[in-house]
Amino acid sequence: MVKKGIFIVIEGLDGSGKTTQATLLAEKLSKSYSVLLTAEPSKGKIGTFIRECCLYEQARVPTEAEALLFAADRIEHMQTELKPALDEGKVVICDRYVYSSLAYQGSAGLSLDWIKTINARALQPDFCIFIDVPPEKVIERLQRKKSVMETLETQQKVREVYLKYVENGGLVRIDGDRDREAVAEDLYAKVAELLKTAKSFVP
Ligand SMILES: Nc1ncnc2c1ncn2[C@@H]1O[C@H](COP(=O)(O)OP(=O)(O)OP(=O)(O)O)[C@@H](O)[C@H]1O
Ligand SMILES: [Mg+2]
Repeated sequence: MVKKGIFIVIEGLDGSGKTTQATLLAEKLSKSYSVLLTAEPSKGKIGTFIRECCLYEQARVPTEAEALLFAADRIEHMQTELKPALDEGKVVICDRYVYSSLAYQGSAGLSLDWIKTINARALQPDFCIFIDVPPEKVIERLQRKKSVMETLETQQKVREVYLKYVENGGLVRIDGDRDREAVAEDLYAKVAELLKTAKSFVP
């Protein structure tokens, strides 16, 4: 079945405002479109396992295992939530997707090609946004218990990978180091432009 909806992905460092912005965008778009707001790791079995057993442990699991778990969760997420919503013609907003795997496991030393290979079955998004906030700022913002990924050094390396994909055009950068409303306006303007030009999209 041909995908009818629009698939938007929001990426960024931990604490960069992804959930804040995804929620604001979903609220705005819900006035005109049917919207699914979702996130990875997903709420499914594998996503729950990742959140409960990998992210808040003392040390990271082997990076290959981390990458495989995220890829497996993505397949489940795609089959249970993303694809059905897109087939129904919804606007799907996903907080983290394949670029997170490339940025986090890639910056931890894995080959980007291998990460792409294990994610080859993942649905292609229509639009991927990178909310860019300096690593020092996100560490400051994160007052809660930090996950295994949330050290300044990790965030710096992760950002480098994200910026590579901004350079090659895979990700569109938004300056996230501004107040919430300014970021939200910028994001909405870019998405509105996309929705105007998405010819195949029938709301
Ligand atoms: N533009 C902003 N300026 C200052 N603080 C912000 C901004 N946007 C969000 N925050 C605050 O920063 C923190 C992290 O925001 P949020 O949870 O949206 O980030 P996130 O990218 O989803 O984080 P995570 O990767 O942990 O899910 C929250 O306390 C939020 O209120
Ligand atoms: Mg979040």
